[in-house]
Amino acid sequence: MADKKDQGAGIKGYGGDSVDTVISVDAVTREAEKIASEAPSEEDLRGLAGEDPFLVIKNLRAGYGRMEILHDFSLYVGKGQTLCLIGPNGAGKSTVLHSIFGFTNIMDGHISVGDRDVTALSSNEKLMHAGIAYILQDNSVFPDMTVEENLWMGGFLKDDPAEAKQAAERVFDKYKRLAERRHHPARVLSGGERRMLEISRALVMDPEVLLVDEPSIGLEPRYIDMVFEILKDLHETEGKTIIMVEQNARKGLEFSDVGYVLVSGQLVKAGDGDDLLADPDVGRLFLGG
Ligand SMILES: Nc1ncnc2c1ncn2[C@@H]1O[C@H](COP(=O)(O)OP(=O)(O)OP(=O)(O)O)[C@@H](O)[C@H]1O
Ligand SMILES: [Mg+2]
Repeated sequence: MADKKDQGAGIKGYGGDSVDTVISVDAVTREAEKIASEAPSEEDLRGLAGEDPFLVIKNLRAGYGRMEILHDFSLYVGKGQTLCLIGPNGAGKSTVLHSIFGFTNIMDGHISVGDRDVTALSSNEKLMHAGIAYILQDNSVFPDMTVEENLWMGGFLKDDPAEAKQAAERVFDKYKRLAERRHHPARVLSGGERRMLEISRALVMDPEVLLVDEPSIGLEPRYIDMVFEILKDLHETEGKTIIMVEQNARKGLEFSDVGYVLVSGQLVKAGDGDDLLADPDVGRLFLGG
């Protein structure tokens, strides 16, 4: 168990409960490093992805500049599956998504989608040709543009601007809440609506794989549920493959087919979302229980 001095109000921690009851990031990292001895094998990871893994990361070493953040990291996700990465702050979760999307320096290893090696593609190529879209952790709407213009921006890589407009109309058909606000500047949207716009902007390119970084961050509970409903619909109705990072580990694991626990740039645990939810180490370290 963590030292008492590591616990207390004001420390950023984990779980849905009040911060007072939660362990600090440093303590979580130390504890989680201890369980790394049971790190999953490649075979375990393949097994979790089902018959036919769709997006595969093999033995990735990647980081920023010369700094290596991910050490020998592998990931397998089946087509139409949802996978959630959890782990302490600074573990490298966002760096996994950045690497898939082409924002990091890849020192070794491979990333493939379907039977295509996408390791060296630029972000634009990933979006245009490999069907991968990335929804940023940071607030990324253009505040002075209207809702509609923000959606059109999602199609900036399309050859024909009319296609982006058609895609925007499909979004408006689906999300009435955005349709009602299409001529409003994005800055007037509520936090939840803004997140809805960020997600739908990524849909304009009709990606097969959605990379979603912390969809619930900074949202009130009722909007968190709304955002997860949208993602659930994209998964269940449209068969999107979703790789998500979620600080709210319970929500993320409940949502996902597969969960990975990342600590200090290494995978320490992987399992079915439900198995991880029931795992005592995960409960103690990430679910505040
Ligand atoms: N653009 C960057 N340039 C240099 N270092 C970076 C960059 N982005 C992240 N890092 C470093 O990489 C490490 C992993 O960061 P990352 O953002 O992947 O962690 P994370 O698990 O997503 O954390 P959090 O839960 O806080 O979002 C950290 O030490 C961070 O400082
Ligand atoms: Mg992050």
